[in-house]
Amino acid sequence: MGKLICDLGCGQGELANDLNNLGGKVTGVDFSKKLLEYAQSLTDQVTWVQGDAMALPPSFQNESFDIVVSSLMFMDVADHKAVFNESNRILKPGGVMIWMIMHPCFQSPFCLPLEDGSRKVFQYSPQFWKSNGKGTLRSILGSYHRPISQYLNDFMKAGFVLEQTFEPGSEISAQPNEHVLDIPDHFGAIGWKR
Ligand SMILES: C[S@@+](CC[C@H](N)C(=O)[O-])C[C@H]1O[C@@H](n2cnc3c(N)ncnc32)[C@H](O)[C@@H]1O
Repeated sequence: MGKLICDLGCGQGELANDLNNLGGKVTGVDFSKKLLEYAQSLTDQVTWVQGDAMALPPSFQNESFDIVVSSLMFMDVADHKAVFNESNRILKPGGVMIWMIMHPCFQSPFCLPLEDGSRKVFQYSPQFWKSNGKGTLRSILGSYHRPISQYLNDFMKAGFVLEQTFEPGSEISAQPNEHVLDIPDHFGAIGWKR
């Protein structure tokens, strides 16, 4: 039987759909009714649930999933620890959580791209920010910036054993003077429930 997978913050459902096509039995959770309607149009093989990843609906029972994934959601949530705790709760012992965020060092409003292609990081501490753009997503919703160490420490405190971290694109050795090309956009981690 396929693995039972929960995709937290599934958005328009592409990852959940891919995981379903790979043989998983997938449940996609998102706040947004609109995005879930789009997701539904991709496939009805995934169970789409409108809900809050910080406090999952009662139908999400303890120790009921093999894998929890979350792609690019954590920057939207006020309480990332609650999401780690909920993920741990719904995973079977030995179950795996894989999460990915925009890279807090290189992809934030506190990291300015300079003219020569390099970047200048001028702040790193945890903070909530809103963009100045009128009517843009980030001017309305804002976003939570957290250092990598905070994410990793809280992931482990929630009961996960950290297995691996990843920064896609950064693995390739840079050539001299090509330092700009290997700045990763994303950071992620894989851990398993003790
Ligand atoms: C940047 S999108 C990422 C969507 C998708 N996972 C992807 O990688 O393309 C973040 C998603 O998280 C959802 N989201 C934000 N906070 C949430 C919460 N507390 N519970 C469930 N979903 C949430 C948003 O509605 C949005 O669909």
